[in-house]
Amino acid sequence: MKNNVILAIEAHGLVKTFGHNRAVDGVCLSIPTGSICGVLGPNGAGKTTTINMLATLSKPDAGSVKIFGYDVLRETQIVRQLIGLTGQFASIDEDLTALENLMIFGRLYGYSRKDSRRRANELLEEFGLSDVAKRALSKFSGGMRRRLDLAVSLISQPPLIFLDEPTTGLDPRTRTQMWQTIRNLVKGGSTVLLTTQYLDEADQLADNIVVIDRGRVVASDTPDGLKCSAGSNSLHLTVKDADKAVNAVQVIERILGAKVRLAEVSELIAPMDNADKLIDVLTALRDAGIALSEVNILQPTLDEVFFALTGGSSKNKRELKVKKEENKND
Ligand SMILES: Nc1ncnc2c1ncn2[C@@H]1O[C@H](COP(=O)(O)OP(=O)(O)O)[C@@H](O)[C@H]1O
Ligand SMILES: [Mg+2]
Repeated sequence: MKNNVILAIEAHGLVKTFGHNRAVDGVCLSIPTGSICGVLGPNGAGKTTTINMLATLSKPDAGSVKIFGYDVLRETQIVRQLIGLTGQFASIDEDLTALENLMIFGRLYGYSRKDSRRRANELLEEFGLSDVAKRALSKFSGGMRRRLDLAVSLISQPPLIFLDEPTTGLDPRTRTQMWQTIRNLVKGGSTVLLTTQYLDEADQLADNIVVIDRGRVVASDTPDGLKCSAGSNSLHLTVKDADKAVNAVQVIERILGAKVRLAEVSELIAPMDNADKLIDVLTALRDAGIALSEVNILQPTLDEVFFALTGGSSKNKRELKVKKEENKND
């Protein structure tokens, strides 16, 4: 029997070219209603270009998109009523207060004056901006602006929300708040597609992760599924005396019969399919007179997954932001 579940997003073979650059090169997506999908990829991978096509802002050169079953090209107006998109709202007025700005957008969406004030106040509360509701936007920090941007896109409580790098450049505290807000949106019944360059963000938030690289989907799975696909757990050992690290590598390679990597001067990483071998490794090291300061068995991280998937090209390594950025504004 045919499956009748309506997907929030169903995209097939999306293509967008700019001159000779195939920025999006055959992307397919299938995103269930009520979930968070994380689109993960380095700078220039094609994330924004993909979102723009999904959100009716740009026309695909090839392929098709349905949003809750409505075709973005043939039923554009209906689709626009179902989605919210955050970006930089150039039309926000710097001299007006946060409350006034939100109310203007409320009026644009057809709310009465009274209702747009009510909705604006609800959103200011939800985003922790009530205290600064009457402050002019020109006096807002970067983090406060970002939250207001998101609030604006939620005025109409859309069932599908696109968030394009919602936390890039935010300080860690604001970023964690933003994650909570995003989780609340989904609890409230919305579906969220967010793009990110941060592996930990996708890991924390997403039910499903789509990894894109050079305009193509290179993997699509749950965070745990992706980690499993990257292979086995690994054994991380730190030797007390860095001079003995090379010797330790030889000892462990002999026991495991596998290549051991020296990550730092005194940290070794070995594949660990079989945790029972750990005792043999530790015994052999003790017999060789090599003392340890730390022992861990770790699941593959999403960064290892990502590097494995994209061939770990130096370009990606350079551009992928594994570390959190410091906020320049807050
Ligand atoms: N309007 C445009 N004109 C020309 N090239 C563009 C345009 N928008 C994006 N690109 C190119 O398309 C590729 C993908 O860009 P983008 O979708 O912005 O990536 P991401 O959002 O993943 O960083 C890049 O090579 C970028 O330079
Ligand atoms: Mg982008």
